[in-house]
Amino acid sequence: MKALILVGGFGTRLRPLTLTVPKPLVEFCNKPMIVHQIEALKSAGVTEVVLAINYRPEVMMGFIAEWEPKLGVKIVCSQEKEPMGTAGPLALAKELLDDGSGQPFFVLNSDVVCEYPLKEMLDYHRARGAEATILVTKVDDPSKYGVLIINEYGQVQQFVEKPKEFVGDKINAGIYCCSPRVLERIELRPTSIEKEVFPHVAADGQLYAFTLGGYWMDVGQPKDYLKGLTLHLDSLNIHNPSALHNAPGVVGNVLVAASAKIGADCKLGPDVSIGEGCVIGDGVRLSNCVVMKGVEVGKHSKVDKCIIGWDSKVGSWCRLENQCVLGEDVQVRPELYMNGAVVLPHKEIKESVQTPNIIL
Ligand code: GDD
Ligand code: MG
Repeated sequence: MKALILVGGFGTRLRPLTLTVPKPLVEFCNKPMIVHQIEALKSAGVTEVVLAINYRPEVMMGFIAEWEPKLGVKIVCSQEKEPMGTAGPLALAKELLDDGSGQPFFVLNSDVVCEYPLKEMLDYHRARGAEATILVTKVDDPSKYGVLIINEYGQVQQFVEKPKEFVGDKINAGIYCCSPRVLERIELRPTSIEKEVFPHVAADGQLYAFTLGGYWMDVGQPKDYLKGLTLHLDSLNIHNPSALHNAPGVVGNVLVAASAKIGADCKLGPDVSIGEGCVIGDGVRLSNCVVMKGVEVGKHSKVDKCIIGWDSKVGSWCRLENQCVLGEDVQVRPELYMNGAVVLPHKEIKESVQTPNIIL
């Protein structure tokens, strides 16, 4: 079975991290976002994954060279000459997705995390003979998502992308199971599956909704990425608790990569992930934060609700809070206070940042 992951888009809402790597390759819980997805696709029987890309192909090729053998799934690229939106890439990859067998395929937005109930979704899709099935979840603020009106049979009656007024709270979770016949509706041009394809499939009574159990988050912006971290670690705690770090000073759910070094008397957690090669000094306190590969945090620093990009160095006795996002290789001098600072890659911070700000 095949799957296509939409890995184009510029990921502007996740800057400055996406100045270093495309959004789908930003690590989430110590693995590139799409690795979580490819692992789930493999368990659901997918043997070939198409990555629909529109920029920096060389970075994606590097990803494939590293991960294809580790994951044991064939991964191919479908390269757009111009951004084709969320449906155009399906038309471009038509030959790759439809091998004539009539088998359905999966389509995923690259930035959604959940427990990926793909097998159940596929059974549901097949049982209804649907043209397309959308994974749906409920959220408190549906305005930034695609909203679905669904009847009692699970048929989608209406699909409204990013509605200005409240129409409902069941939203498109960004994962689809499609029968090849949906490809007949999609033209080879930049086009949106949410605005130009699904509303028509719904009008023909061919669009179904499969309700997601468990957590869900679109981690395409820092605040949601940190929320997603909490939810994902909660889920790990239920389904695979041995993956979590267990040591004195750990509070709640904490993920620590094998090669990370943790100093004495640290207080870690709740909701922290620490990447490979990190060095966390003595007496450091970390809560609800992501520390990417190769980061050093000096002794007695405190980091809360922040994302610290690859190979950055936070000096000792610093305090970082309120959704700071440090890009790759940022140096923060000792004893500084940073409140909601967004820092571009390769900067050195010499003074405290008292109010939320972008440091260019
Ligand atoms: N190949 C390719 N080409 N991919 C693209 C392009 C493009 O031109 N534009 C966007 N993408 C990819 C993004 O990388 C992402 O994986 C996916 O398409 C969706 O784009 P986002 O920018 O993340 O959209 P969104 O979060 O505002 O809304 C979408 O996701 C919501 C769920 O998280 C929509 O599908 C909503 O309906 C949905 O509720
Ligand atoms: Mg998104």
